[in-house]
Amino acid sequence: LNCLQKVDTFLHRGVGTDAAVAQAQTTERDGSEAKDGRRSLLAVQDERREQAEKSVLISCQSRPSEKKFLKYLSRHGDVNKYFFYESYGVYAVVEFASRDGVASLIEAATIPSVSHESMVPFKSRLLSLRSVDSLNHQSGLPCQPQTSVSISELVHRLSSEDSVEQQITSLTEAFQLTEENSRLRFLVCSLLNDIAAAYFPECTIRPFGSSVNGFGKLGCDLDMFLDLDSISGWNVKQPKAGLLLEYQMKRANSERAVTQSILSVIGECVDQFGPGCVGVQRILNARCPLVRFSHQPSGFQCDLTANNRVAMISTELLYLYGELDPRVRHLVFTIRCWARAHGITSSIPGAWISNFSLTVMVLFFLQKRNPPIIPTLNHLRDLAGPADNSVIEGHDCTFVRDFSKIHLQRNSETLETLLCEFFVFYATFPFSRMSINIRKGKEQNKPEVAPLHIQNPFETSLNVSKNVNATQLSRFVALCQESSWLIQQSERNSPKSAAGESSPTPWGLAALLLPSQVEGMKSRKKRRREPVSETIKSLLESLKNKNQGKKR
Ligand code: GTP
Ligand code: MG
Repeated sequence: LNCLQKVDTFLHRGVGTDAAVAQAQTTERDGSEAKDGRRSLLAVQDERREQAEKSVLISCQSRPSEKKFLKYLSRHGDVNKYFFYESYGVYAVVEFASRDGVASLIEAATIPSVSHESMVPFKSRLLSLRSVDSLNHQSGLPCQPQTSVSISELVHRLSSEDSVEQQITSLTEAFQLTEENSRLRFLVCSLLNDIAAAYFPECTIRPFGSSVNGFGKLGCDLDMFLDLDSISGWNVKQPKAGLLLEYQMKRANSERAVTQSILSVIGECVDQFGPGCVGVQRILNARCPLVRFSHQPSGFQCDLTANNRVAMISTELLYLYGELDPRVRHLVFTIRCWARAHGITSSIPGAWISNFSLTVMVLFFLQKRNPPIIPTLNHLRDLAGPADNSVIEGHDCTFVRDFSKIHLQRNSETLETLLCEFFVFYATFPFSRMSINIRKGKEQNKPEVAPLHIQNPFETSLNVSKNVNATQLSRFVALCQESSWLIQQSERNSPKSAAGESSPTPWGLAALLLPSQVEGMKSRKKRRREPVSETIKSLLESLKNKNQGKKR
């Protein structure tokens, strides 16, 4: 009865309030929150992982009423938060107040009976809820969107805003990950963790990349890292005297060989036993070996890597920069969206500029403002305390995590100015001679021949944009030139009166997302001149690249 009464209270309280309560509780516990509410990425991740471990993913095949659904769940324990979403059917993410709730629910679940097929007997927290009496079917569960709006819808939306500033804010709001989408990402990691833990009970699967660095767009891939640090012997301190008991462990030729064999086995397991995991590819010969698959119930394209600590650190750094000043995230979202709209970036790996490279370019530009909006990586390293020390494979990855130690210079440039200046900056950047370097916050002479050179912030001898060819770089520069010109045209740069019109005329940022005039003219000319063999060559090249790993 107690539980049922709580269902009613819960229904009235709504889903949003619990996140705030949970956040307040966690903050109290780990004490890692700065005075202004900003927390380190590790603290945020710990909280999310804990939520995910108390959660289940349920396919609601019978679409029960919300009240009936909660009543059923509450028999097993108090529910902290729940929401529904649609992905080839309606699904619900449910977080219980404790793991006992999950255990009780799982205990009550039955094995499906099928007549013409056999089943892999692997139980997981991915469940299906069916109705035994067929009269109960209902629709209209309040589903939370998990995908972002299309570019054309965004252009329409932005055209009704009153200023470029508002357009940029509105774009970020439309694209950024929602609370629900973040929870779903952590839940998928947690479900995968259960599979990997069958072999490695101490492992943790952590999300990295844009799922957690603050720059993720709804629909972006889910990058995961199989963390075996607690059993890898990394960072182990040997006693100075006395007896020493060691595990006997199988040896391999290299760290890479170990990673490949672990991912090979986990990949096989995900393929054979992972409910909802389809299209599993083991891309083990890539520079950074990975297992790629699609997680159908969430709709996420997943990349699972191991031994990828530098990528985790890069994620932390990007998160930190994004939290330092709100203009950082706004500008990164806007430039990423602009680049995608013009095919500067692509979801297919190839000679295109990657989102990661593009983000580093935005950070570099913000370091170059006068006064700078964000500090250099070397400055962040100088502010670091002993707890921030980190050396990975000989690379210095140390930088400060404590926000209160970072003092920013006063720069009050508007987002509109910054957007325009970004285009001017890269339209005139001496790419042929200089390398982009966020460690120093200054361009450096290029150490090697490559059309675009962006120094890897941690593995400093590497170029993060090694894949970019001259054609793609010149397309980027041409579009920067065109966009800087467009945004400076005052007549295009003010809201158009929409009186009597059904769709307002695109202006400001919305106009920058429309197909490029220059590009259109160029490609028409080029198509006439380019021999057929060239087109086929580039198609083959992109197909070849599609099958290679895209990381690093
Ligand atoms: P989207 O998936 O495109 O939204 O962005 P992403 O930042 O997640 O990029 P991606 O999935 O390609 O890579 C995931 C993460 O791996 C990045 O955020 C980086 O932390 C890291 N990464 C990717 N490419 C490189 C690279 O060239 N060098 C380094 N050091 N890290 C990289
Ligand atoms: Mg990614």
